[in-house]
Amino acid sequence: MSDIINIAIDGPAGAGKSTIAKKLAAKTGFIYVDTGAMYRALTLYLMRKNIRPDDVAAIEQVLDDIDITLEYEDGMQIVKLNGENVNDKIRTQEIGLNTSTASKNKCVRTKLLSLQRNIAATNNVIMDGRDIGSFVLPDAKVKIYLTASASKRAYRRWLELKEKGECGDVKQIEKEIIERDEQDMSRENSPLVQAPDAVLVDTSDMNIEQVVDTLYEIYRRAANE
Ligand code: DC
Repeated sequence: MSDIINIAIDGPAGAGKSTIAKKLAAKTGFIYVDTGAMYRALTLYLMRKNIRPDDVAAIEQVLDDIDITLEYEDGMQIVKLNGENVNDKIRTQEIGLNTSTASKNKCVRTKLLSLQRNIAATNNVIMDGRDIGSFVLPDAKVKIYLTASASKRAYRRWLELKEKGECGDVKQIEKEIIERDEQDMSRENSPLVQAPDAVLVDTSDMNIEQVVDTLYEIYRRAANE
């Protein structure tokens, strides 16, 4: 039996998955793998080529030209698109929505799947996304479904923007979050669902430290089983 332990964290947009996963990674010494960043980098390529995220035929034609790789510097994930570090270029709301559309395509998902599974096969990882517990890592030792009310998630996103000196309309952010949830949950390929063996954690009324402590406790119990 392999000693590798994988932790899968899934949930809707803005549930705090990446913030929590990064802190949990620091606490456990596991590698944090942000799969959303991989889909975002691929979508950035499409946008630069003026390919619509729903144009399956055009996407299929360029998929072989897209190389997504992950590197780590001081524990931080760097996602590279054809060798270019795109970490700072993939975080806009527009890329978020386009990524949600592009990631519906089976060919896009298949392309990133083996990269995700290979990392998890050889490393203890905390991997977050939409289909990690349900599809990418069905045997993960720990599965968490992290969620919060749409209004709370929108408010947190709005605060994040404000802290960066950007302004946003909280109602508009909530509308886009709901739109993205619907698209991610209703798609045919690997929709966002809570895996039957995942633990549901609703963070609507929790602060970051409480969520990290809750997840760490779930991990500790599972690791000792
Ligand atoms: O987690 P995020 O906001 O960075 O994800 C952006 C989009 O990528 C999300 O709306 C759907 C897609 N995605 C996916 O389909 N599967 C994953 N494992 C991760 C993200």
